[in-house]
Amino acid sequence: MQRTFIMVKPDGVKRGLIGEIVKRFEQKGFVLLNAELMTIDQSKAEYHYEEHKAKPFFGELVDFITSSPVFAMVWEGENIIDVSRTMIGKTSPTEAQPGTIRGDFAFKKEENVIHGSDSLESAEREIANFFDPLQLRSSDQMFKNRKS
Ligand code: PPS
Repeated sequence: MQRTFIMVKPDGVKRGLIGEIVKRFEQKGFVLLNAELMTIDQSKAEYHYEEHKAKPFFGELVDFITSSPVFAMVWEGENIIDVSRTMIGKTSPTEAQPGTIRGDFAFKKEENVIHGSDSLESAEREIANFFDPLQLRSSDQMFKNRKS
């Protein structure tokens, strides 16, 4: 089982897409381990996007992600890192296929609705930036008393 960090970005929250995005992940069979509507501070944002620090759009990216609330989530499932990247679609809306979240809802590279971790290492780092990993139960623990 893998875990990943998924975030509905400020544009997605403003446009009322939280429910649609959660629905897609639930329908795929993934399990939501934690979620919070939060406003990200500058230092968390800079740490989150650290790998893009040298890029010309870094300042713009940090300004955007801290501009209004995001919906941060931790999801669990088999091969969820790769599968969620496929569900999310390409960064650029001109390349994102219809049927993917960005293909269906995003029209700008700078404001593309959703972020998902791109590797196991990123997922671990990103989850720990926004949630306390010790507080996260696995889906097995969450549902151990479930009858069906
Ligand atoms: S790169 O250069 O290929 O590594 O970058 P890319 O993977 O395309 O994008 C990384 C994240 O930066 C966002 N992005 C931008 N933000 C603001 N302005 C511009 N011009 C811009 N270009 C890309 C992009 O949405 C990615 O965000 P995340 O949250 O990681 O998906």
